[in-house]
Amino acid sequence: MPLPLRTLNCCALLLLFSSYSSAQQSGPVSDAAATQFVDALLAKMSSAEKIGQLEQAAGHHLSKDQSEELTRKGEVGSFLFITDPERANELQRIAVTETPHHVPLIFGYDIIHGFRTIGPIPLALAASWDPSLAEHAQSMAAREARAAGIQWAFSPMVDIARDPRWGRIMEGAGEDPYLGEQMAAAQVRGFQGAYIGAPDHILACVKHLGGYGASFGGRDYDSVELSENELHNVYLRPYRAAIAAGAATVMSAYIDLNGVPAAGNRWLLQEVLRKEWGFKGFVVSDWDAVKNLTVQGFAADPTDAAQRAFSAGVNMEMANFIYRDHLPELLRTGTITEPQLDEAVRPILEMKYRLGLFTNPYVDLDRFRAEQVSQAQRESARHAAEQTAVLLKNEGALLPLAKSVKSVALIGPLADSSVDTLGSWSLHSNPADTITIARGLRDKLPGVQLLVTKGVEIARGQPSVFDKQFAEPKLTLLTDQERKHEFAHAIDLVRQADVTVLVLGETQNMSGERASRATLTLPGRQEELLEAAVATGKPVILVIMAGRPLDISWASQNVPAILDIWYPGTEGGNAVANLLTGDAVPSGKLPVSWPRSVGQVPIFYNTDLTQVPESPDARYWDESSAPLYPFGYGLSYTAFEIDKLQVASSSITRTDTLHLSVRIQNTGKVAGDDVVQAYTHQRAGSSSRPVRELKAFNKVHLAAGESKIVNLNIPASELSYWSSAKLADVLEPGAFDLWVGDSSDATQHTEFKLEP
Ligand code: BGC
Repeated sequence: MPLPLRTLNCCALLLLFSSYSSAQQSGPVSDAAATQFVDALLAKMSSAEKIGQLEQAAGHHLSKDQSEELTRKGEVGSFLFITDPERANELQRIAVTETPHHVPLIFGYDIIHGFRTIGPIPLALAASWDPSLAEHAQSMAAREARAAGIQWAFSPMVDIARDPRWGRIMEGAGEDPYLGEQMAAAQVRGFQGAYIGAPDHILACVKHLGGYGASFGGRDYDSVELSENELHNVYLRPYRAAIAAGAATVMSAYIDLNGVPAAGNRWLLQEVLRKEWGFKGFVVSDWDAVKNLTVQGFAADPTDAAQRAFSAGVNMEMANFIYRDHLPELLRTGTITEPQLDEAVRPILEMKYRLGLFTNPYVDLDRFRAEQVSQAQRESARHAAEQTAVLLKNEGALLPLAKSVKSVALIGPLADSSVDTLGSWSLHSNPADTITIARGLRDKLPGVQLLVTKGVEIARGQPSVFDKQFAEPKLTLLTDQERKHEFAHAIDLVRQADVTVLVLGETQNMSGERASRATLTLPGRQEELLEAAVATGKPVILVIMAGRPLDISWASQNVPAILDIWYPGTEGGNAVANLLTGDAVPSGKLPVSWPRSVGQVPIFYNTDLTQVPESPDARYWDESSAPLYPFGYGLSYTAFEIDKLQVASSSITRTDTLHLSVRIQNTGKVAGDDVVQAYTHQRAGSSSRPVRELKAFNKVHLAAGESKIVNLNIPASELSYWSSAKLADVLEPGAFDLWVGDSSDATQHTEFKLEP
């Protein structure tokens, strides 16, 4: 207990902050110890103190005096957006020495793909198809954040997204429930470690429950209507997996889900989250979402909003003091009761206790300095960026660059942009840390002439809420004359160089929150630049930097090599330089089906099929209904052959596991990684069954010429689903198809039976 601190003077406290060991919990706190501790605390706390614990204040919107006053009065249990460790220490000092029961604060922050060192965006992590890589990336992020005094990440976002118009597709794992489950659980493990309170780890917050990714038209914040079939079989599955992996907290979404706002949705927050999935942690609302229940035509006034969110199961309110201002009245009138209040506060206190904050709430400033953008952080970010890039096309083995290349034209608005290389949601990054692609290539190829220019400039042209952090790029080419000159200069460089690398896509503020689009084209005059570069007849490599699949139909026909690097982060330039030169070999696979045009979205591989299945052109007469690149697809600098699919037994029982194996051979000249993917199809069910569904995968490394037998396991329980006809989870006997390959177009086929 921190009681002795009360007697220390200020200087002694400062000494104490800097000498505090970073030791956090040395082992998990038992349930019994946590319950006993919290029971004793609750018995002493006043109702006002308990309500204070349910408030999260936005530190960056408050003055120093205001945040200290709130803490002193016990009106706040958590702050978000305080990243200055000295300020965090001072607020903790007030909380643990000047409030009656010394309850520490918990500091939360959006650590989406790194804290100060930024890694590739979460959609890119999913493209690695390597859950251990995602786990490691988030554990490194947790380490850096914890050293700065953050104990809680508002991450991972596990919302399935099948519509790339939605700007937040970049924050999730893409379209597929199975890949989404693996990535959700891995990221929770990465943030939290082996147990809550593990040293150098923090709490995860799974968000935004639920269905946010399906907002109408891909428009951010718009309502969502999802059938129970889609909710249970697709959209809720990554949440269930994250809770099973032990996620400590959940954030409710902004949206209306089937007519009920998520922040007031009792079914979602109680029936599903707590009763069905056994969640024991706490729920935080999204920013202003409780207040906005009045805007949604749901709550009559702020008091009603507080009551409805509280009763639905939102433990903590983010940013608007609605609980602080209205729960006291609701308690007085008996609308809510003291035991209900205790139940709401309990998991918050318990998490603070498990994190060790009651005994060690402070940041060690020396350690903080040592942990930020360390060499180990950089290495990990670079490796992740290399593992997440997806090679979409490589005609004539244009990549990797030939050793004989003497000059490279590096063209495009994103080629030397430190801010854009980081991507959106890199709120605490410092762009000065970034290795841009220009810098990475310059360092990598000192003997090669690098001709760098933008060619065109791009900007959203409409303010983003995040522009306060990174200003919208300032256009420097103001007159038509200047723009013409720069464009022509770029094409001149293309002509001069042996080979051109065009880095095109979206500025960081073009994807993320409030960054939805009605089109998927390359913004500004980038397509024109690309076409003009290709028209020179010189070899052109397109490097796409963006948070979503873009419409690259023309490029897919006319540009020989296309590499999607998403937003690669702080070490992006080094990673891309390694990839372009062959020191790293691309191994990413698409976590989304890549549409040909915006008219195809939402597009995903695991659809149901009805009338004239053999005729895909019955779907559109003006466009193929197939994606440009399928889910799970990605090339390498080498080639793989997958064959000899075998199942250990062609019939399994409901408690068995299907053991399958394939042979994979690296038939090329360099070592590389491939992802072996297994898809099943239930031939008949009580509800229609999708054409194929991913059920297992494994990323394997093979030396040149090497072949391996890869074993994959599909437990029979993986074949269960929620049946719309039975209104229940079912596991139905019958015949199944099985395909194995390295994309969702896998062709190795066999069949098996699930016995009654
Ligand atoms: C976003 C959340 C985020 C929160 C705090 C909201 O606008 O929807 O994802 O965690 O802000 O920054």
